[in-house]
Parts: sequence; structure tokens; C-alpha cells
Amino acid sequence: MNNEDVKLLKALLHGTDNLVSRLSNASAFINEALPDVCWVGFYLVNENGDLYLGPFQGKPACINIKKGHGVCGSAAMNDETLVVPDVHQFPGYISCDAAAMSEVVIPIHDDEGKVTAVLDIDSATLGRFSDEDSEEITALKNITEYILTDKA
Ligand code: SME
Repeated sequence: MNNEDVKLLKALLHGTDNLVSRLSNASAFINEALPDVCWVGFYLVNENGDLYLGPFQGKPACINIKKGHGVCGSAAMNDETLVVPDVHQFPGYISCDAAAMSEVVIPIHDDEGKVTAVLDIDSATLGRFSDEDSEEITALKNITEYILTDKA
């Protein structure tokens, strides 16, 4: 995953405002582009700050996550990227798939800068995600800016 992939994803999403279509293709693209991942998808934030499952690739997952709960709820509530090298060390971690060992969650903002969704990626490899400043996570953060709309 690098800046070339960011360009490819932008081209892939171009031309539709439909959020379901955009998130569906984005999850499929990221799942194909990243090695060693077992779940790639989105949780959307509702008006209360709780999260609900959006388009994803991987095994069926938890549908609802309360505000501030788990890695996803914490990342959304605090508007911060969370890199979790060992999910068992994360207090309040929500397990959807026993195979998941490491995880990264990146907030996605609307035009006003409000967190409206998160991108959640799991790996069955311990330590698969460990460095927030890696080229891969930097590219993923860049990608999130283009996922909701074409113009961002
Ligand atoms: N592990 C996440 C829950 C979502 S699944 O990984 C798909 C969490 O703790 O928020």
C-alpha cells in the first residue's frame, strides 16, 4: 500500500456519491492491496456516537459497538488512529474473530472534520500493525480522506 494505491482507489471510487457503493469498493480494494489481513471494513458513527457495521470483507462481525468501546469506538470517540500490535493487550478489545491478533483503526472525517466512520483492519499475525508512521498506514490515512466523497 503506497501513494500509487491511493491514486488507484480514487479512480475506482470516482463518479458515485453513493456511500454504500464507495465503502464496498474501498473495503474490497484495501483487502486486495494489503498482504496478511483477515478483515477490512467500516463502522459508521450514528447521531449518538455509537457505531454500526458498514461494508466489509471478511467474516461476519459485531453489528453494533457502543461509543468509546473497543478499538473502533475508542478511535471514533477520541478521533485518533489506533495501532494495536496485540489485540489481547487492548483494554476492552471486542473480539469478532478469534483469529484476529493485531488491528489498526483509522477515523474518517466529513467535510466539517467530524468523525463519521472508521476504517478497521485486522490481521491474524501478531504485530502485523505496529508503526503508525509506516508507509502503509500513512497511505491508508491518506486514503480515508477520499473515501466519503470525490472532492476531499
Ligand atoms: N475489534 C474491534 C471490533 C470490530 S472487529 O475487529 C471487526 C474493536 O475492538 O472495536
